[in-house]
Amino acid sequence: MKVTVVGAGAVGASCAQYIAVKNFASEVVIIDIKENYAEGKAMDLMQTASLMGFDTKITGSTNDYSKTADSDIAVITSGIPRKPGMTREELIGINAGIVKSVAESLIKHSPNVIIIVVSNPMDTMAYLAHKSLGLPKNRIIGMGGALDSARFKYRLAEALDCPASDVNGMVIGGHSDTGMIPLTRFAVRNSLPVSIFLSEERLEQVAADTKVGGATLTKMLGTSAWYAPGAAVSELVKAIALDSKKMFPCSALLEGEYGLNDISIGVPCILGKNGIEKIVELELTDAEKAKLQESAAAVKKTNGLLG
Ligand code: 2OP
Repeated sequence: MKVTVVGAGAVGASCAQYIAVKNFASEVVIIDIKENYAEGKAMDLMQTASLMGFDTKITGSTNDYSKTADSDIAVITSGIPRKPGMTREELIGINAGIVKSVAESLIKHSPNVIIIVVSNPMDTMAYLAHKSLGLPKNRIIGMGGALDSARFKYRLAEALDCPASDVNGMVIGGHSDTGMIPLTRFAVRNSLPVSIFLSEERLEQVAADTKVGGATLTKMLGTSAWYAPGAAVSELVKAIALDSKKMFPCSALLEGEYGLNDISIGVPCILGKNGIEKIVELELTDAEKAKLQESAAAVKKTNGLLG
């Protein structure tokens, strides 16, 4: 199992680190445009191998995509992150060109690769990868929902005063401050609906805090977060590598599902060796459906900014 991570910034490096520490991939190649940067991150990470107990071989390269040849999975984290006060959508001008050229370089050397898009605005960048590569739709996956759901679980655990491992919950919709839809109706503590323990107002607060999860951290850190994004990507990579058939909300190209077409947006997906093996269609309430339509309209508006 060979995994390429494009972008040796904080998200790319964390992602490579978590993949290595989970010890399921034989090889991780990190690529960056900055001279010696990916090589340095790879060497630093390799020097943790004996300490962390992993056998994954991590190498780095300055933009030489021949080193990525025959990758099974590639993660695109390239582009600029947002600064405090910016929306993810504002990054489109710079990131669209970068993501398109990275996706094309990857496919040239790994024609069968499954691509996970992380760069923002993520749903639009995943859509761009679909449009420019024309691959079967199962092979391009946008990472956002797995991260947003982890943030939802963090906020639920905080409200319930319990460990995050005791809760479960899912966020669908666009990966944006206004587009995320935390499905509070389905959230559980152990197997019990969280509405047993939390008032409607508290749950609304949990949902509101979840939606601005990335923006809150960007304000605190001065740049976009990296540990949770990196960890979320590593879980998607692992599910594909191990053909585990686990369910994650991912940005998937829709062709009629949820009444939507020609858009990549967060919906529950089963992941396995073929990437997105199934899109799961939930029975949504009218209110949830309306939120998804609104979220999709915003993503389509951003898609419309692509040249
Ligand atoms: C975030 O929400 C990187 O978009 C990402 O932190």
